[in-house]
Amino acid sequence: MSTILFVNACMRGEKSRTLKLCREYLAEKENVVEVDLGKLALVPFDGEAAGRRADLQKAGAWDDPVFDLAKQFAAADEIVIGAPYWDLSFPAALKTYIEYVSVCDIAFHYSEQGRAEGLCKAKSLTYITSCGGFVEGANFGYEYLSGIATMFGIPETRFVAAEGLDVVELDVETQMAKASKTIAKLNGR
Ligand SMILES: Cc1cc2nc3c(=O)[nH]c(=O)nc-3n(C[C@H](O)[C@H](O)[C@H](O)COP(=O)(O)O)c2cc1C
Repeated sequence: MSTILFVNACMRGEKSRTLKLCREYLAEKENVVEVDLGKLALVPFDGEAAGRRADLQKAGAWDDPVFDLAKQFAAADEIVIGAPYWDLSFPAALKTYIEYVSVCDIAFHYSEQGRAEGLCKAKSLTYITSCGGFVEGANFGYEYLSGIATMFGIPETRFVAAEGLDVVELDVETQMAKASKTIAKLNGR
């Protein structure tokens, strides 16, 4: 059975509007495995930790737990990422998670010509966000993750956003409903 990996970067937990949208998208799907980045509280790699991991890679010590998130990501059939629009991109916890996932010889490898080639199984990465204002020409979080998807060999990326949620003149329910329509379309309804 195919597995959906839900990367939950909705840092406000149950209060999160982004999480509500993610749940709508995932409602009818089976075999969803969630990684809750708020609970996981990953520590970013510093030079020492990156060096230690590189030594483990060189030694082929792939059973070390530092590689668990990368293996889980690479094996999933579909990736769903939920993250609020923070500072023109997303919370730092998501970048830290990508640091853990982006492992050479698990998520990608280098060809003899030195080009990165993806090793991930997923056919698509769906990115769900919500923002106080409007993403407009500053969709940097999604653009970055689209680059990562290309590097990891994931052929399709899809984007959903509820926008204008903190604009007092706009009705939150109406703005959320627009995003729900996009989700329904992605789910073939
Ligand atoms: C730390 C932080 C940074 C934010 N940065 C932006 C921003 O750059 N642009 C914007 O339109 N909204 C910004 N917002 C507003 C959120 O995007 C908005 O409230 C969103 O709906 C929050 O999602 P959530 O309900 O899933 O937590 C920011 C909010 C926070 C807490």
